[in-house]
Amino acid sequence: MTVSRRELLVGTAVLAGASALPIRAPLAQGTAPVSLPQLSVLDARQTLTFALEAVAGQNEFIGGVPSATLGFNQPYLGPVVIVPAVAAVRAEVRNRTQQTISVHWHGLLVPGDVDGGPHQPIAPGATWLPTLPIDQKRATLWFHTHVHGATAEGVYAGLAGVLLVDDGLDRQRGLPAALGIDDLVLVIQDKRLDRVGRAIYEPTAGDKMHGFLGDTILVNGARTPVASVPPGVVKLRLLNAANARNLDLFFDDGRPIHIVASDQGLLPVPIMVDRLRLAPGERTEILVDFGDEGSAILMSHPHDEGSGASGMGHDMAGMGMGGMVANEERFTEPFAVATFRPVRDLPVAVRSLPETLGTEDQPAAEPVGTRQFVLDDMGNLVAPVDLLDALRRANTSDHAGHAMSMPGMAMPPAAALGEADPVFGINGAPFDMARIDFDVALGTTERWIVGGEMMGHPFHVHGARFRVLRDKDGEPRPENRGWKDTVFVDGELELLVEFSAAAPSTAPFMFHCHVLEHEDRGMMGQYTVSA
Ligand code: C2O
Ligand code: CU
Ligand code: CU
Repeated sequence: MTVSRRELLVGTAVLAGASALPIRAPLAQGTAPVSLPQLSVLDARQTLTFALEAVAGQNEFIGGVPSATLGFNQPYLGPVVIVPAVAAVRAEVRNRTQQTISVHWHGLLVPGDVDGGPHQPIAPGATWLPTLPIDQKRATLWFHTHVHGATAEGVYAGLAGVLLVDDGLDRQRGLPAALGIDDLVLVIQDKRLDRVGRAIYEPTAGDKMHGFLGDTILVNGARTPVASVPPGVVKLRLLNAANARNLDLFFDDGRPIHIVASDQGLLPVPIMVDRLRLAPGERTEILVDFGDEGSAILMSHPHDEGSGASGMGHDMAGMGMGGMVANEERFTEPFAVATFRPVRDLPVAVRSLPETLGTEDQPAAEPVGTRQFVLDDMGNLVAPVDLLDALRRANTSDHAGHAMSMPGMAMPPAAALGEADPVFGINGAPFDMARIDFDVALGTTERWIVGGEMMGHPFHVHGARFRVLRDKDGEPRPENRGWKDTVFVDGELELLVEFSAAAPSTAPFMFHCHVLEHEDRGMMGQYTVSA
């Protein structure tokens, strides 16, 4: 299985005119189109074990201009790891970089001690050996570094990969399932390139308040690539791995998008939309019909940060930190993400859309209680000492020359606040590694009401899955149907959160905003799950 799949991937790359290791190949200068790089595959379905090695390297986002990057098993980003839906899988994570990392399995419903969050750091040179007791629905998940105060810089540098929970039944469901042919993984990010074309991470005051937005869109590390697809129905697994950018996707020719899966797995039936919002941390699986053999460009509208529960919204955010600071969006018009070009030589497995996806809508238990969360986005909270320490550590870890400027950090926190980083929080308190915010009961569900103040936030919960009960305008948007683990909270949302994995106080689960600049600056909390 491993070998033939591997060969298929290489075969596709050759057909598409790309090298077998396209992520390392220099991108063409100027406007010459580059083929969609296929991420390498680590198939653990039979072996029940896989190994990741975090390494420092270089990637050319523009041909001939190397940027310092980090990656897993390769210079930039990581592989697509495939695990079974029910099995104990042993992971081996070695840190060969110069900085502390962690590997959080975003969306995997495993206990807190193997979740890979800020409480399971991996020091330079160290190896982490968690066994993951996987038991959940087939889904497109991902993994990334999650060291408190250093997540934004680490993910930006490339410490992120894809994790597929696979039950082997997609073909029976009538879904395309040939990975790299009619089942494509697209990791979408943005980078800010300097004048010579190097990716830089130097957040401005606006970036710290609103999240860091890039000016260059990458898919699997390549700028607006071209993907060769069979002239039939194709499945796209989309991951928004950007630090802060909301994607709002559509096809240039108005081609319909059929949503088949949300963060935590398949919907009961496909939902057709012409526009698809995907916030940082979210995944969606869509079907697109290329049976007409016409090419289409996947586009996105410019970033829209939404509005908080206050309704003040948009450019008002930032007033808490001494005046208005606007976000740094450079796009004023819709921009291209990737082009899809049907190629007759590629085999068509699926010619028509399935009517149902063979999954029951799984009802959740009645909630045992309600909690309210206000995401404090004014930036005017006072940092706990450990947050300042973490930020200082992140600041001095000068890998890749991406130093963050942190004026005033030597001063006492209160005095430093006026000119240093904004400090965010949840319910009035910035994240504190030493404080557990609450405990929930294993096997129960709770109703969570979540809202921001000035802008929208992608809210993510570790170790749990949830349904959106109520969206900004009532019924959940199409993107927010099904089981999720991350949702864009624009206005106030009501969630039904299901806790199926335990987390002790030594290894609590996080809940946080997935705008990484917000998360690193305190918009995060932690909870335990007790039997
Ligand atoms: Cu994708 Cu707590 O993270
Ligand atoms: Cu997570
Ligand atoms: Cu946020």
